[in-house]
Amino acid sequence: MDPRDVVIIGAGAAGLMCAIEAGRRGRSVTLIEHSKAPAEKIRISGGGRCNFTNMHTTAENFLSGNRHFAKSALRRYTQWDFVDWINGHNIPWHEKTLGQLFCDHSAKDIIAALLADLKASGGELRLSTSVTEVAREGDGFRLTLSDGSTLGCQSLVIASGGKSIPKMGATGFGYDVARQFGLDIVETRPGLVPLTFDPDMLTRFKPLAGVAVDGVACHGKTRFAEAMLFTHRGLSGPAILQISSYWREGDTLHVHIRPDLDIFDILRTARQANGRQAVQTALGEHLPKRLAAMLVEEFGLSGNLADQSDKKLRAFADHLAAWPITPTGSEGYRTAEVTLGGVNTDGLDSRTMQARAVPGLYFIGEVVDVTGWLGGYNFQWAWSSGWCAGQVA
Ligand code: FDA
Repeated sequence: MDPRDVVIIGAGAAGLMCAIEAGRRGRSVTLIEHSKAPAEKIRISGGGRCNFTNMHTTAENFLSGNRHFAKSALRRYTQWDFVDWINGHNIPWHEKTLGQLFCDHSAKDIIAALLADLKASGGELRLSTSVTEVAREGDGFRLTLSDGSTLGCQSLVIASGGKSIPKMGATGFGYDVARQFGLDIVETRPGLVPLTFDPDMLTRFKPLAGVAVDGVACHGKTRFAEAMLFTHRGLSGPAILQISSYWREGDTLHVHIRPDLDIFDILRTARQANGRQAVQTALGEHLPKRLAAMLVEEFGLSGNLADQSDKKLRAFADHLAAWPITPTGSEGYRTAEVTLGGVNTDGLDSRTMQARAVPGLYFIGEVVDVTGWLGGYNFQWAWSSGWCAGQVA
């Protein structure tokens, strides 16, 4: 086959966006995807409705070794540019909460629109194909494909994503290519992932499995106010997924349970009204009953409300404002929504995503050490970084 101007490896959100943009510039583009279908993560995302961006996206919503790196791409192709693209394809959408935008019908609407744009821009998509070798050839690259054929290209774009959910085709391919060309990798770890307990803690928390409560999950100065959920393995829910990206083994999280309530005032008022009421009963009118029972027992508030001094009630309320929990691990890449770390941004140009030391080589999307919060930020990074590379590759 003739050499191509651009070969992109990985037909996810970032790869498709890049292919469309490069094709629109008249570049011959081949997109190589080892799975049978493109964009599988878009298809399953957001419960099948894809939380495709967030209205409030700024570089502050991302973790990276260089917190300034994402600014340029996010400014050049913003959440509103992507909303315009969605509107241009007549895909109905809505805001769910906290600026998170979802498709009204199905994530498949976005995939169909991306594939239509890819076709219109002249891009070729090769499914069930993988790359077995990448080599520098002159100013460009020569790829050996799984069918034994070779393919030359001027620009090579790595859009193969992170390690999350290996069952869905995630590989460490992008990191291997980066290392091959001398780029540094920031250590990878699962992000936006449920946290787990050791057997002793599981026994302690077992009665709470299935209980959900609003709280603020805190790790140092980082705080996320959303729902949290006790599971059979440990903790999940949006607040926990968010804080998991900051948590490290051995760290203690602090949870402010129901920050909207003044627990001290509630219990003191209940004591005045009915001193014979058990503390857990009074608390259980505001918190899930099983959680109220556990908290009261753990804190040692035996007896009824009349037995509790103001000092004791105050100390208990303070305890619920910073309830310490020390998870022992995470569910890992098997369920993580994203991969933290990746190709070190020091080696990339923030405007184009090109490797500084390897002209013609680009890294976009999740493979890069830029990881968003929960809430549509990760797709926005994929669109923005893919768009930027597509202007120059
Ligand atoms: P992505 O992983 O999407 O694509 C990479 C592609 O490369 C895949 O198609 C893969 O098969 C292919 N590939 C890998 N190795 C290859 C190789 N060696 N050769 C050829 N092809 C290869 N984010 C968000 O903003 N809103 C949301 O609602 C959600 N929801 C969500 C749910 C679930 C269950 C998960 C796991 C993740 C999310 N995310 C999310 C995160 C989001 O899906 C993710 O950040 C983006 O898909 C990343 O886009 P990329 O294009 O970089 O990688």
